[in-house]
Amino acid sequence: MLFKTIECGGMEIPNRLVRSATHEWMAEPDGTPTERLGDLYEELAKNEVGLIITGYAYVNPKGKSDHLQQGIYDDKFIEPYKNITSKVHKYPSKIVLQIVHGGRQTMITVESPFAFAPSAVTEATRGMTPEEMTEKEVLETIEDFAQAIRRAKEAGFDAVQLHCAHGFLLSNFISPYSNRRRDRWGGSTEKRTQVIVDIIKRARELVGDDYPITTKLNASDGFPKNTKKKSLDAPESVEIAKILADNGICAIEVSAGIAEAGQELFWKNIDSEEKEAYYREYSRMIKEAVDIPVMLVGGIRSKKVMEMLLDEDYADMVSVCRPLICETDLALKIKNSENYVAKCVSCNLCSDKTGIKCNYDFDE
Ligand SMILES: Cc1cc2nc3c(=O)[nH]c(=O)nc-3n(C[C@H](O)[C@H](O)[C@H](O)COP(=O)(O)O)c2cc1C
Repeated sequence: MLFKTIECGGMEIPNRLVRSATHEWMAEPDGTPTERLGDLYEELAKNEVGLIITGYAYVNPKGKSDHLQQGIYDDKFIEPYKNITSKVHKYPSKIVLQIVHGGRQTMITVESPFAFAPSAVTEATRGMTPEEMTEKEVLETIEDFAQAIRRAKEAGFDAVQLHCAHGFLLSNFISPYSNRRRDRWGGSTEKRTQVIVDIIKRARELVGDDYPITTKLNASDGFPKNTKKKSLDAPESVEIAKILADNGICAIEVSAGIAEAGQELFWKNIDSEEKEAYYREYSRMIKEAVDIPVMLVGGIRSKKVMEMLLDEDYADMVSVCRPLICETDLALKIKNSENYVAKCVSCNLCSDKTGIKCNYDFDE
């Protein structure tokens, strides 16, 4: 199954192995993507990763989340991204631009002194209270996302991925924990999802009906089940997945977690098959509810578990992040062996601000 092609929103993807979005710390300070990024994506394509999702690209400088993050907020980025997509397209792999607004996790700088979010709910890990977005700011942000999608298409990306996970703006909107609004953007499940639906609608006016728009969706904020806090969890996230699929999203990558929930966002020490694919129950629920491809991410390490996830209908595609930082030739190793297990020990030392790389000392 793993190395069978799959069709997704008109894209023919050569296999089911996905590189999940990974912030690389490899852009210029203004967000311009560098040749280094192009070389990395080309390396992944050469080594047969079927679908490559870029690091998160910010749609407005007021929604930048980290240093050396790539941007897509201006037409000046189209040319440098064209060079990148053409490098990948020398191979059968497809490349997707992940787009984001930082929301409650926006980086505070002199030029950008406030974070914007659906509601002024203090972000506990940073002790920072964002500004509640006005109606005008919500509408401008919808336009920012839609223009980013247009730029992605013009730059040759095969698709975009709306980042609706991990506590960034669109994940803030869908969660009742961070969205306490009482206007048309908050309240019911439908209203909290409306901002994403409106992004898709506006984007369709710019890129037409056929351009693939995908999403990475939080299935849960990840608070302990016994918490009294109102937060996002299944089955509500399954309803959100259905709304998005009904409104033209053509693939859903299932993830979960926000920093404030207390759990390490990217789980550490995945050293057994039991610990792998830690969000598998969520992806199965979503896969049962929608008719579009579902990708699962989070702690997937061995060929055996990858095959199991596809065979037992947990997902249609499997996504990995840290293992591909450790071994860019992981897809080929998996293809050419009976049961390859990624070397990655899930230590998170790869979050390297000089550019992602594996910093684990295997000789120690
Ligand atoms: C260094 C690093 C950067 C990441 N950057 C992004 C990102 O830009 N967008 C995103 O959606 N997830 C990002 N993630 C999360 C991964 O895509 C993935 O969901 C998570 O690491 C779990 O998958 P894994 O166990 O295969 O690493 C990042 C994770 C790491 C370790």
